[in-house]
Amino acid sequence: MSEVKRRGAFIVVEGLDRSGKSTQCAALHERLVESGVVAQLIKFPDRTTVIGQMIDSYLKSQSDMDDHLIHLLFSANRWELASSIERQLREGTSIVCDRYAFSGIAFSASKGLSYAWCRSPDIDLPAPDVTIFLDISPEKAKERGGYGEERYEKEEMQKKVRQVFRRIEVEMQSQRLQSGNQWVTIDAGRDRESVSADVWRHAQPLITGVEHPIRRLWT
Ligand code: TMP
Ligand code: MG
Repeated sequence: MSEVKRRGAFIVVEGLDRSGKSTQCAALHERLVESGVVAQLIKFPDRTTVIGQMIDSYLKSQSDMDDHLIHLLFSANRWELASSIERQLREGTSIVCDRYAFSGIAFSASKGLSYAWCRSPDIDLPAPDVTIFLDISPEKAKERGGYGEERYEKEEMQKKVRQVFRRIEVEMQSQRLQSGNQWVTIDAGRDRESVSADVWRHAQPLITGVEHPIRRLWT
């Protein structure tokens, strides 16, 4: 029997601000590495690039931008890393990614831009093999430290963002059979260990690598 060529897994973690995403991504990455998986942790926005610095200044309210423009910059910030993500996956590195195109839609559509318009610039990006959505109520998120430091960290905004994430979940699940996109929602209002255990349960089936070719987002 010939050996099937496997590539790295692309695991995206999404959620509201203060949902524990960064903590969970770091924990997942560590556990993958401990399990012998070659894995890299990345996050969007990637504030280190020139575009990322523009985004950073916008989020810190040091600059203002048209809602469409900042949306396109967030998307461009993903496109500038897209080929490196693909290359790494093909070379066998698994990627844990803190936020992706779903945040792009959820936050911009919450400001009143059309859902379809928000989705379009991210069409054809490498698609995750699984997207783990850390669901938390905006009230609970607000109780966590550091809330309110950046532009979108307001309860009203986060409530809308959560609604759009729910819409994305429905759409992803309806496309699952054709696209293979897997979306799972985890209750992130619980203690860190319980959330980690659930995250691991969904990531673990992928740790031996993925056989199917890299898919494209929304196609
Ligand atoms: P961060 O807190 O994970 O660094 O993300 C910064 C903020 O940017 C957060 O409020 C979510 C928002 N965001 C967008 O509005 N669009 C995007 O495409 C991404 C990746 C994040
Ligand atoms: Mg934040």
